[in-house]
Amino acid sequence: MDKKKIKVVINRFLIVAFLGLVVIQAFHPAKNNDTSETPNDITKVCQVPDTVLGLLKTACYDCHSNNTAYPWYNRIQPVAWWLDDHVQEGKHHVNFSEFGKYTPERQAKKLRKCAHEMEEGDMPLNFYVWIHKNAIMNDADKKIVMDWLNGQADKISPKKS
Ligand code: HEC
Repeated sequence: MDKKKIKVVINRFLIVAFLGLVVIQAFHPAKNNDTSETPNDITKVCQVPDTVLGLLKTACYDCHSNNTAYPWYNRIQPVAWWLDDHVQEGKHHVNFSEFGKYTPERQAKKLRKCAHEMEEGDMPLNFYVWIHKNAIMNDADKKIVMDWLNGQADKISPKKS
């Protein structure tokens, strides 16, 4: 292929890609915003201290509850699909709004897993804390949350040793 032909091919590709981007703007995933009562919320089955709840809400609820506070760029596709994917996957693993639906053993397991993920620095997801600086917990806050998670897990289903 000579240079001219390559240019034509690249131009066509760019036009198609651009049109594709325009078209997908019309498709948006349903928002994860449930305003109804949540009888199975973790606060209904556990006594969550305000500090702990506040920290969980700031750092985890966007992907692990039935209510996401969406950023402005959620209006742009394919970003919205990408964010929705995280929310759906996160909720699939742990959903604090549906926590009461888990069996006690499962609740304890999830709480321990949450503490473990925080300890390892795997949660919240890296890209999330780049953007949401307020989701970064200092060591003292982290300890408060992890101690509560582990203590609550032991209360619900004591570890067999
Ligand atoms: C930006 C979205 C997002 C945020 C914020 C977030 N998570 Fe997650 N979480 C996910 C996704 C996606 C998965 C599933 C994929 C994975 O494990 O990476 C997940 C998985 C998990 C799991 C299951 C891990 C496993 O291997 O079974 C736990 C536990 C968890 N998150 C706890 C937390 C806690 C605790 C916080 C807050 C400190 C938090 N997450 C914040 C998106 C998020």
